[in-house]
Amino acid sequence: MPVASQMFGGGAAGPSPEVTATDHYIAARPSLRSAPMATPEQRREELKLAFEQARGCVRCSELAATRTQVVFGAGNADADLMFVGEAPGANEDRMGLPFVGQAGKLLDQLLGEIGLNRNDVFIANVLKCRPPGNRDPHPGEIEHCREYLMRQLELIEPRVVCTLGNFATKLLRGDPAGITRVHGQEEVRVIGRRAVRLYPLYHPAAALYTPRMLEVLRADFAGIPALLDKPAPAQPQIVEPEVAAEPEAEDWREELAQASLVEPPAASEPAPAPEPEPLPEPPEDEGREPPGPEQLGLF
Ligand code: URA
Repeated sequence: MPVASQMFGGGAAGPSPEVTATDHYIAARPSLRSAPMATPEQRREELKLAFEQARGCVRCSELAATRTQVVFGAGNADADLMFVGEAPGANEDRMGLPFVGQAGKLLDQLLGEIGLNRNDVFIANVLKCRPPGNRDPHPGEIEHCREYLMRQLELIEPRVVCTLGNFATKLLRGDPAGITRVHGQEEVRVIGRRAVRLYPLYHPAAALYTPRMLEVLRADFAGIPALLDKPAPAQPQIVEPEVAAEPEAEDWREELAQASLVEPPAASEPAPAPEPEPLPEPPEDEGREPPGPEQLGLF
């Protein structure tokens, strides 16, 4: 089976009546927005930068204090298929990779059954840090972490996004409907700046101990190849907010200088510094290599 990026060319589809916008994501902070990227390589480099930001993140003080490391996500940075789970558990926290425990083994098995493996997909979570004791993510934590997931979706450009379990499903559908009601039902959703085919699935961890749920999960998984065969959903036209033209900053000073009221502007005076963005600083990296593809688990 060829890798996902070779399997499905990005054909443009006509307008789709099924498109639903969860456009509160479109209001994502401009700091993490980017112009459309030309190449997968550029997007992959941007993804590494996003990882650098995430691994120094202290937005959730409890998670930052208790995690071993940030579990950013792993897989094919140009995948057509992306999975979004809930949050890292103890194994993931230790290894720095998503879905490496029992639930991950089941995920691998189900992927294998549809002819795919981890090199073909990208796997991430709603939260990038382990909640202590594997408790449920708190709403504030989901909100803090949402920007990283949005950035991943924007940069990887998956065509199909499978949400695993309630937390990812509710977040990406922007709707409180539970997984039992919506699993296995594909819909085109605009998430952030892109339309994707969203396909909610039961969480593999839940299916581990409930044979009936495993049956349903397996049946829903069997629907994934057909989704990947569908044309890419039509992309929304994002209208960037008008940015007011920069005023001629020095004009007023020149005019007043002519009237001898202020010093004329120095020829090489630097422009005022832009407002600093409140992004987390990358961690202190003494003696640490910048993240390479292996550390990020990128293929
Ligand atoms: N469960 C998740 O939701 N994510 C993981 O990475 C592991 C288990």
